Amino acid sequence: MPDVNLSVNLAGVTLKNPVVVASGTFGFGREYSQFYDLGELGGICAKGLTLHPREGNPAPRIAETPMGILNSVGLQNPGVDAFIGEELPFLRRFDTKVIANISGNTPEEYGIMCEKLSAAGVDMIEVNISCPNVKAGGLAYGTRPKLAAEVTEVAKRHAGSTPVMVKLSPNVTDITEIARAAADAGADALSLINTIRGMRIDVNTRRPVLKMNTGGLSGPAVLPVAVRMVWEVAQAVDIPILGMGGVAKGEDAAQLMLAGASAVAVGTALFADPFTPLKVRDSLAEIAGKQGLSAVSGLTGGVKPW
Ligand SMILES: Cc1cc2nc3c(=O)[nH]c(=O)nc-3n(C[C@H](O)[C@H](O)[C@H](O)COP(=O)(O)O)c2cc1C
Repeated sequence: MPDVNLSVNLAGVTLKNPVVVASGTFGFGREYSQFYDLGELGGICAKGLTLHPREGNPAPRIAETPMGILNSVGLQNPGVDAFIGEELPFLRRFDTKVIANISGNTPEEYGIMCEKLSAAGVDMIEVNISCPNVKAGGLAYGTRPKLAAEVTEVAKRHAGSTPVMVKLSPNVTDITEIARAAADAGADALSLINTIRGMRIDVNTRRPVLKMNTGGLSGPAVLPVAVRMVWEVAQAVDIPILGMGGVAKGEDAAQLMLAGASAVAVGTALFADPFTPLKVRDSLAEIAGKQGLSAVSGLTGGVKPW
């Protein structure tokens, strides 16, 4: 492997390499830990947490599409206390950064969870204001700049010294508006993109394929949207970006970094190949090495505009 420094800095948190796993696609790491040492990852964005346990939405809640999947899982999770008591100690066995992902029904709920998670010592808190699959909170906060700012401000106030990363929705006309609102309210970093709302219909039964009618699209189909949005946001704000959406190989990750991301997350691609993040990491090092860089961080923001 080329001699390239892989470590990157994301809002003061040093990741040993720029590849993390995306929230909701890696559970709390237990299943994947059977495949490899989770310490190989730059970081782990844990499954989205809510203040109280949630069953999630009724099945069917996953459907395939030509270039990705539609999901309407709806934040099934054991609640923040169970995460802190049972899952965080497990994740702490590995030499990697743990990023907790939270969704609230109200700004106050975000605040309570930030306080608990900061006290529990997670490395970073990812504030999800972009889940398309829940009725309350979620997407409502992520599509209105004022609400996005309010949630960010409350999260920051309760997170102590733990960095807060706000996860943005692509389901908006101008993502830079929300990005600026979160940055101005004190966000330490931004992550994007969450899934894009979509729908499939079974022509024979004439019913939507998902029980919730619509779901969030992820996987290779969304990569160009993610690259465009990371590029737009990188020009609009001065805080670091965790880029995601459709990453399946090193070149995909390199596109997000050139567009302005400091690190990248792999999500849907894990379902086909759990080793994807490690392959992406190695391939990123190769791409950076071939381009004469001594560090992968040298890719960040390196796109050459026409
Ligand atoms: C099954 C599934 C569950 C997800 N759950 C969450 C979640 O709990 N919190 C969150 O912020 N994003 C969630 N996401 C969004 C991913 O973290 C990621 O932003 C999105 O899927 C785009 O990346 P990808 O194309 O690599 O999957 C989920 C995605 C999938 C496919």
